[in-house]
Amino acid sequence: MRIAVIGSGYVGLVAGACLADLGHDVILVDNDREKFAALQAGQVPIHEKFLPELVQRHRGGKLQFSDDIREAVRVCEVIFIAVGTPPTEQGEADLSYVESVARSISGAINRYKVVVEKSTVPVYTSDWIRKIILRNAVPPDSFDVASNPEFLREGTAVTDFLYPDRIVVGADSERCAAVLRMVYAPLTDGSYYRQSDAIPQPDRTSVPPPLLITSAKSAELIKHASNAFLAMKISFINAVASICEAVGGNVQQVCQGIGTDSRIGPRFLNPGIGYGGSCFPKDLMAFRSVARECGYEFRLLDEVMRINEDQRQRFLRKVRSALWTLRGKRLGVLGLAFKGGTDDIRESPAILLVQALLQEGCQVVAYDPAAIGRAREVLQSNVEFVGSAYDAARDADALLILTEWEEFSALDLDRLRKQLKYPIVIDGRNLYDPETMARCGFTYYSVGRPATASEPQPGAAAARSGKLKK
Ligand code: UDX
Ligand code: UDX
Repeated sequence: MRIAVIGSGYVGLVAGACLADLGHDVILVDNDREKFAALQAGQVPIHEKFLPELVQRHRGGKLQFSDDIREAVRVCEVIFIAVGTPPTEQGEADLSYVESVARSISGAINRYKVVVEKSTVPVYTSDWIRKIILRNAVPPDSFDVASNPEFLREGTAVTDFLYPDRIVVGADSERCAAVLRMVYAPLTDGSYYRQSDAIPQPDRTSVPPPLLITSAKSAELIKHASNAFLAMKISFINAVASICEAVGGNVQQVCQGIGTDSRIGPRFLNPGIGYGGSCFPKDLMAFRSVARECGYEFRLLDEVMRINEDQRQRFLRKVRSALWTLRGKRLGVLGLAFKGGTDDIRESPAILLVQALLQEGCQVVAYDPAAIGRAREVLQSNVEFVGSAYDAARDADALLILTEWEEFSALDLDRLRKQLKYPIVIDGRNLYDPETMARCGFTYYSVGRPATASEPQPGAAAARSGKLKK
C-alpha cells in the first residue's frame, strides 16, 4: 500500500521505516527543513536500535522523504499523523500541529483516504480531525479518520513496532477498519516474521500480535489509560520504596514478592528517581485535563505526579545526607538521558537533578553513552562532560547513578573505587547489590534499600595521604 507519514520525529520516523519493512511504499513528510535534509542525506537523527539499518535498507526505495504534504496525500491511500503533541502551559496537549496537518490533508483529498492519528492525542481528537476536514469542503464519504496509538518505548521503538503486544485500531467504519487490517496484515498473518531479513524477535514477545478493533474514542482512551497505568505502577513502587527506607525494609525483596503475583507482574516495578521522557509526564497531564473537561476529576493522577516529583526531592536529600554540605563538592554523574538506551533528555529526571545540584553549588562531571550532545545544549558549560564512567568518578566526592544504562551496571568496581576521592556511590537506579558494594569497599546508598557502610579499603584519598602503601 502507499502510505504517507506526517512528522518524522521519534514516532513518525520509526513508524515510516517499519511500515516500509512490512513491504509498504512510504513517503515520510516533515516540515523541518533541517530534519528533511538530514534524512535525505541518509542521516538518522535519533538513537534507536535497528533504525539506521532499516533506513539504509529502504531509503530511496520503499522509504521516500518529502517536505510536500499535499503531494504525499494525493498519491497515498493512508495518511498517518505523527506530529508533536507537546504540553501547553496549562498541561493540555497542544494539538495545533495536528490541526494544521489535518487542514493540509483536506486540501489534497482526491479519492478515498484513511487519515490515521498516530500521535498521542486526547479522546475526541478524531472527531475534531473529521470536523476540520469536512469544514474544508471535503465530501464526507471520501475519507475516514482512525486512531492507531503507538506503544513504542524509546530505545526499543523498532522492535516494539514490529513485535507489539497488541495493535490497537480505532475505526468508526468497516471500510476504514479493512484498510488498517491490510496495513498490518504482514504482522497479523505472520508473513513478516518468516522473512529472512526480518528484524530479530526480542525475548518476552509472541507472534503474531492480536489486532484489536475498537471505536476511535476507545483507542484514544487506551493510549492515555495505558501510559497513566504504567506511570502509576512506577509511582506506586517508588512510594513503597520510601516506606521501605522508613522502616529498614528492602524494596527489591518486596518487588520480588509482589511481582510474582501474575496479576501484578515483575515489569515496571523498578524504583528509581522517577519517570521522565516525552510521554509519561505529558500524557498524564493531558489525561488529567481531558478527564476534567469531560466532568471527571481524576485525582489519582495528581498523586501519581506528586509522588514522581517527590522522588527527585528525596534523592537530593539522600545526596545531602551522604555528603553533608554540597557547595563546592565534586560529583561524578552517570547518566543524563531520561532512561537507558536513548539519547533523549526530554523531561529527564537526571537533567533536573543535575540542575538542582548545580543550584547547590556542586561541581558536576557527567558521562552518558548517548545523550551528552543534547544535554550540552541545556547544561552548557556548567557541567564538565567526560568520555567514560571512570573519568566521571575521578577525584569525585561521590558518584551518582541517575540513568539505567546497561553499561553502568557492569563497571570495574576496583578501578572505580580507586578513581573516587571517597568510595561513596549514590545509586538512583538500584543497579548494584548493596552487599557487593560493601564488600568492594563502597559506602553505597540506593532507593528503598538500607545504605551499606564500606569496609575500609585503599581509596584514592587514603593512598594519597600516604597512610596505606600503594
Ligand atoms: C510525537 C508526540 O509528541 C507524542 O506525544 C506522540 O506519542 C508521537 O508523536 P515525537 O515523534 O517524539 O512524538 O514528536 P517530535 O519528536 O516532536 O516529532 C514530530 C515531528 O513532526 C518533528 O520532526 C516536526 O518537525 C514534524 N512536524 C511538526 C511536521 O512535520 N509538521 C508539523 O506541522 C509539525
Ligand atoms: C513510555 C511507554 O512505556 C510506551 O508504551 C509509550 O508508548 C511511550 O511512553 P518511554 O517513555 O519511551 O515509553 O520509556 P519507558 O521505558 O516507559 O520509561 C519511562 C520512564 O519511566 C523512564 O524515565 C524510565 O527510567 C522510568 N521507569 C520505567 C522507571 O522509573 N521504572 C520502571 O520500572 C520503568
